Amino acid sequence: MRVVVSVGGSVLAPDLGNNRVEAYASVVEGLVESGHDVAAVVGGGGVAREYIGAARELGANEIELDQLGISVTRLNARLLLSALDEAIVAPRIPEDYETAGEALHRGDVAVMGGVVPAQTTDAVAAALAEYVDADLLVYATSVAGVYSADPKEDPDAERYDELTAGALVETIASMEMNAGSSAPVDLLAGKIIQRAGLEAIVLDGSDPERVTRAVEADEFEGTRVVPEAR
Ligand code: UTP
Repeated sequence: MRVVVSVGGSVLAPDLGNNRVEAYASVVEGLVESGHDVAAVVGGGGVAREYIGAARELGANEIELDQLGISVTRLNARLLLSALDEAIVAPRIPEDYETAGEALHRGDVAVMGGVVPAQTTDAVAAALAEYVDADLLVYATSVAGVYSADPKEDPDAERYDELTAGALVETIASMEMNAGSSAPVDLLAGKIIQRAGLEAIVLDGSDPERVTRAVEADEFEGTRVVPEAR
């Protein structure tokens, strides 16, 4: 199976002293050992937010802030790369989908961060999954799936076990209308998942082994996003 795993920056490394980099590297290596093609997309986490906050105070514009964010996602990608067996991974961080696709075609693991301003790595992971025709896209996030509303804001929020990509897009759109609420996967990512007919899973990535169980045994607690016409 060809799998794209999206790991949030705060999931990979809540902080540098307390990180899951080694554990995520083992997950990737285990999946490769089982015969899967793997690409990982890594987010920027709290470090990206801190840099962006500081630069905003200094007067940077939004594109410049995104570029800072992209740099941090690539730093985090490099961190994961440094923990991976160099025999199985492309030595460079791909900066576009073509380069990541070439790495997969060679049989290497591709580990990347952001690509261009005005989006997040949620969308990068979905676009990469579309580009390389992935069988499965796994979002290892800090929330345990897709909810009917932001569970931090609304005590009545319920988690969906399964929903179509169209329903995912509607759910995210209604959450993004509420200031302060944040969806586990952003709208652009939802739309790419929808148009590409991707199968995706959103789960709590605080235990990296959950990613292995989701890919290998289709066992997980979280949300499955299914293409409309299955
Ligand atoms: P993240 O993907 O970590 O975004 O990229 P996020 O929404 O802050 O992360 P989570 O999902 O809450 O963990 C960090 C920042 O880098 C820029 C954006 O500014 C983003 O907020 N970025 C990232 C881009 O502009 N383009 C990309 O392709 C990726």
